[in-house]
Amino acid sequence: MSEKSYGLLKGKKGIIFGPLDENSIAWQIALAAYREGAEFAISNIKVALRLGNVPELAKQCGDAPLIVCDATSEEDLQKTFAELKEKYGQIDFIVHSIGMSPNVRKNKGYTELNYDWYHKTLDVSALSFHRVMAEALKQDALANGASIVGLSYIGAQRTFSSYSDMGDAKALLESIARSFGSRLGHIGARVNTVSQSPTKTTAGTGIAGFDALYDFAEKIAPLGNATAEDCADYVVSLLSDLTRKVTMQNLFHDGGFSTMGISDALLEALYGEKK
Ligand SMILES: NC(=O)c1ccc[n+]([C@@H]2O[C@H](COP(=O)([O-])OP(=O)(O)OC[C@H]3O[C@@H](n4cnc5c(N)ncnc54)[C@H](O)[C@@H]3O)[C@@H](O)[C@H]2O)c1
Repeated sequence: MSEKSYGLLKGKKGIIFGPLDENSIAWQIALAAYREGAEFAISNIKVALRLGNVPELAKQCGDAPLIVCDATSEEDLQKTFAELKEKYGQIDFIVHSIGMSPNVRKNKGYTELNYDWYHKTLDVSALSFHRVMAEALKQDALANGASIVGLSYIGAQRTFSSYSDMGDAKALLESIARSFGSRLGHIGARVNTVSQSPTKTTAGTGIAGFDALYDFAEKIAPLGNATAEDCADYVVSLLSDLTRKVTMQNLFHDGGFSTMGISDALLEALYGEKK
């Protein structure tokens, strides 16, 4: 991560959903946003705030307020945005870094999904993005030029065998970004998703065969996998005014993985030499 501050988010206020521990992508986004001069609240579900080390992150981010919020609960979101409004007035950014699939956690393959869990996957990992934006809109919480970013994965476009129902959730998340983005233009707000490399986090390493997924991507991507810290630097650029006309995009942040076919590094790994 850059050590230098560019002051990109000076005077901006917002909320970051999803930091759990130091490995979390949202954790690194919070540190980068603070470095760039933003003021923000940090949010997660109760159990994550209790078990994780999030109060330590809040301290490192200028005693950022901690808000307990289950992003699938309209009631929680209603309270969250009311609290934000009271504290900051209208806000300039929202980061949605939330994902969870009980099917993936319990290693249920795509052809044998538990449908209650499937609902949960979609609710937590995709519909929550819609709920967050709908509540922000309802409470007139977004300032002109506000930027909203969700975290996605290339499993939305391509099939990764062990990613199971999360591929569907990410496809929906990206679609919600487009659908909502088109409806927030009138207040100058924008919505994008960042499609990040496999990253060694609690959610990431919970995927069966994660190490293979990680190593494969590392061998294919010309720049190698992007870390959570790299992702944080990219996300702050999207929260800044420098990207004010970027909206409804799914932006790959993956060292070039998404545009590659085969690489020499992969061939060498498969055959021990260049073919
Ligand atoms: N790790 C990867 O390989 C990778 C790659 C691409 C995209 N992503 C995405 O990045 C985002 C962040 O994941 P991460 O890898 O940092 O893992 P993480 O486990 O650190 O973060 C996921 C967060 O979601 C939170 N969460 C779960 N249910 C919630 C709910 N109902 N309401 C609010 N928060 C809830 C968890 O408490 C946790 O803090 C996710 O959307 C994930 O799918 C991860």
